[in-house]
Order: sequence, then C-alpha cells, then structure tokens
Amino acid sequence: MRRLSDRYIAGAELTDAVDAVRALNEAGKKATLDVLGEEVSSAEEARAIRAEYERAMAAIEDEGLDANVSVKLTGLGLKVDEELCEENVRVLVRAAAANGRFVRIDMEDSSTTTATLDLYRRLRADGHDNVGIVLQAMLRRTLDDVRELAALQPNVRVCKGIYVEPAEIAYVGDEAIRFNFREAIAELWEAGAKVAVATHDDAIVEYALGLIREHGFGLERYEFQLLLGVREELADELVRGGHTVRIYVPYGQKWYEYSLRRLQENPKMAGYVAKDVFRRLTFR
Ligand code: FDA
Repeated sequence: MRRLSDRYIAGAELTDAVDAVRALNEAGKKATLDVLGEEVSSAEEARAIRAEYERAMAAIEDEGLDANVSVKLTGLGLKVDEELCEENVRVLVRAAAANGRFVRIDMEDSSTTTATLDLYRRLRADGHDNVGIVLQAMLRRTLDDVRELAALQPNVRVCKGIYVEPAEIAYVGDEAIRFNFREAIAELWEAGAKVAVATHDDAIVEYALGLIREHGFGLERYEFQLLLGVREELADELVRGGHTVRIYVPYGQKWYEYSLRRLQENPKMAGYVAKDVFRRLTFR
C-alpha cells in the first residue's frame, strides 16, 4: 500500500508536503494542501486536524509557498458535533484571510452535501469571501445547486465525484457524468463564478479550454486542478499554455487509511492503480 500511495501522497509529515509543494511551485504549479483524516470520531481528533491545518498554513507563510488548503468537514468534526465543526472551519477561514489566503471545502459523500453547502452559505453571509466549495458532476442535484448558488458568484471546484452513490441520486454512466460536468461549468461561468476544473479527463479539459477561449476568460475566472501524481504531462501542458494549474497535495499520518478507503470506495481507483503500476513496471 505504501508503494502505491507514494505517488499520490506527499508523505506522513508536514515537511514532506512542504517539499512537494516547493517542487510544484518551481515547476509553475500552485498547490492545495490536504491534511489526511476524515470521519473522525471525537472532538479531540477534530481539533487535532484543525491544529495540523494551522501548522500547515503557518508553513505556507514561513516558506513563501504558493498554496492554499482544502478541508474535509468530517475531518473537522461534522459527524461528531456540527457546531464544533463550524467553529473549526471558521478559525481556519479567519486565519487564511489574515494572510490573504483561501480555504476550499472539499465535498464528501452525499450524506454531507446539504450540510456542507449550508455551512458555505453561512460563511458567505458573514462576509467570508476567501472560501470555496466543491460540486460533484455525478450527483443529479448538482445543476440545482449551481442555480441556487449562482447569486453568490461562488468559487467552485467542479469534479466528477469520488464516492459511490445510489443510482437514485447519482448518474452512473461516464457520458452522463461528463454531460453534467460540462453543463455545471458552463452555467457557473455564465453566473460569473470562478471555476476550478478538477479533472484528468481530456474531453472535459478540452471543453473547458474551448469555453475559456470563446469567452476570453482571464486567469481570475478559472484554474485547472489535478491530483498529485496523476497525469503530470497534462498538468505540464496546461502550464505551458499559460493556464493556472493547482495540484491537490494530501499528506499526513493517515495515509494508509486514506489509500485503503479510496480503493474500497471506488473500484475505478483499483483500475487506475493497476494500470499505473503496469505502466511503471513496463516502461521503467
Ligand atoms: P476519470 O476518472 O474518467 O479519469 C480520467 C483519466 O485520468 C483516467 O482514464 C486515468 O487515466 C486518469 N486518472 C484519474 N484518476 C486517477 C488516479 N487516481 N490515478 C491514476 N490515474 C488516474 N472528489 C470528490 O468527491 N470530492 C472532492 O472534493 C474532490 N476533490 C478533488 C480535487 C481535485 C484537484 C481533483 C483532481 C479531484 C478531486 N476529486 C474529488 C476526485 C474526483 O471526483 C474524481 O474522482 C477524480 O478526479 C477522477 O475523475 P476524472 O475527472 O479525473 O475522470
């Protein structure tokens, strides 16, 4: 598992993450740091994750890195105590704002979607503009969420969605998910949102590039986001094209649980890993 994880996770320690981000920055890429840890079962664990984010944010300033953070609400206590979770998020959002930085709230499985969007709305209502959200193209509700958020001109990362969800609430076919992805980013841009296009799928990247060209969007309206260690050649190509590219950099002690959970949650992951290992062994 460690060998498989090596490529997708910066390491167990903050220093590993700092090294990874520095290397990305030197290659013209921005980063977003993710402290591994989700579905915590106690308030202490949630506070420990918050404290690790505070250390990470301090390191970003000390080391002069071009990075922000991505947080998971269940890691900050959503399923333990919603008020504690909100307080943890508010502390991080305020700390980020003090340094002109941004906090992205990742989207987890569908049991958390409504609570996550509600918290985002409360933050925005309180004037916190340095916070963004994620919408998952696989969910049938996503276009409704886009329309409900539109007036806020939100900063939205759109991704396919990594969790396996029941067919009543989620599209299953690749084409249906791609269709919804395209609709979501087009409507978000139309509403004046900033869109982070988070995918390694050439078809969606091409579509997004087409809209960016057609509308003449500047860099303030979009960025591309990829996962650490995935399709690096695509990230390099986008950087060469003058686009902003941000890499999602997970790190932390929970690397084993994280890798295992991703594999269990989504059988597609096992296919990617197998393909990737095969390619590395074959072309070493
Ligand atoms: P798709 O799965 O079709 O992959 C396209 C191609 O990319 C594949 O054919 C393969 O070659 C390659 N590829 C993709 N993933 C790979 C992997 N892990 N290893 C090796 N190759 C791989 N999800 C979520 O539910 N909530 C969230 O908050 C986020 N946040 C997020 C941030 C960022 C920056 C990214 C890039 C992704 C997420 N995701 C996420 C995950 C996302 O929902 C989705 O599961 C993955 O990005 C894979 O979907 P693609 O759009 O890349 O397409």
